[in-house]
Amino acid sequence: MKKLVAALALCVFPIPGVVAEPLQSSQETDISWAFPAPDKALPPGFDGAILKQVPGSKETYTEEKIDPFNPPDWFPEEHPAEPAVVRHGDGKTVQACSYCHLSNGMGHPQSANLTGQSVEYLMRQLVDFKSGARTAPPMDGFAKALTEEEAKQASEWFAALKPSVWVKVVETGSAPKTFVLNTRLRLPWPTNEMEPLGHRIIEVPQDSSRVESYDPHSGFVAYVPVGSIAKGEELATTGAGKTIACVTCHGDDLRGTGEVPRIAGSSAIYIFRQLYNMQNLTRRGSAAGLMKPVVKGLTIDDMISIAAYVASRNP
Ligand code: HEC
Ligand code: HEC
Repeated sequence: MKKLVAALALCVFPIPGVVAEPLQSSQETDISWAFPAPDKALPPGFDGAILKQVPGSKETYTEEKIDPFNPPDWFPEEHPAEPAVVRHGDGKTVQACSYCHLSNGMGHPQSANLTGQSVEYLMRQLVDFKSGARTAPPMDGFAKALTEEEAKQASEWFAALKPSVWVKVVETGSAPKTFVLNTRLRLPWPTNEMEPLGHRIIEVPQDSSRVESYDPHSGFVAYVPVGSIAKGEELATTGAGKTIACVTCHGDDLRGTGEVPRIAGSSAIYIFRQLYNMQNLTRRGSAAGLMKPVVKGLTIDDMISIAAYVASRNP
């Protein structure tokens, strides 16, 4: 961490102070779409049945519901052997990491894509969750319960996984009407109704039943406002007088450098949530301080545009 700060100080620009400054208020805009909460009423007739098999897999999953301590591993031949905590959690408090981040590490929009990150970066997030410097239930609770050895093993395992294209970004004026499961996974309403998108990002599975069944070959589509990718590109590559070009620290292709994380190709809604959390200081770990001047002057629409652009880049 000291090395990271020193390196950035030398080659980038003065490091921002750690004193909390008043931030612009972005509270008046409804951003509940970025923090999906389970819906009480599910669509009539929705049964949420899990597939017994998914395309291309030799495995069969017979449970009625996904077991958080033993989620399906549809393609065991595609990843190195998992540490116990990744496959089964600790059997008590900590659920299997692969239950939310998947057996390929790509995750769902409500969790996080852990692939292509450095071990140091992943470990630092677990430390920040543990100390309360980063809040994101239920993840922060798991980090508190993990042993240091488990945290290290899991971070090493996820850091070795390669990212791939997982989210297709589509500009549109209207998006599917959706609902949110208990796991906070957002799904399109079964009748395929559409509604105005407005100033939001709506990210849903490309194939609901495959994603509900944790198929690691089935990704997402993020609906974003018309024109947002080009607007986001300008902000991300030049700063446009409002922010600092992301490429300065995250690398020309946004695939990360050293301990600065890869952001290219991550979920659009996840990226928005991080920018928002950093601006509103619910993510305020030591290294996240470097992001403070980046997010300070951004509006909600700017963050939507940046997220649309970053998610659309090849990881
Ligand atoms: C019940 C779901 C769930 C489980 C199980 C889970 N996570 Fe998470 N994880 C999350 C959520 C939610 C986030 C944060 C999303 C956010 O900040 O918006 C997260 C974020 C993370 C991050 C930060 C990623 C980043 O790019 O900054 C790491 C690292 C992580 N998890 C590791 C783990 C490990 C290791 C395990 C197993 C011990 C695990 N998670 C189990 C839901 C889960
Ligand atoms: C001064 C260097 C710097 C600049 C410029 C910068 N970042 Fe970051 N960014 C970081 C560091 C360091 C972290 C890791 C913070 C941590 O460890 O919690 C980070 C983390 C992030 C994360 C969280 C990643 C994750 O997986 O949770 C996102 C999203 C992000 N940056 C987006 C951006 C965008 C978009 C821009 C440009 C508008 C940008 N950053 C510009 C240094 C920078």
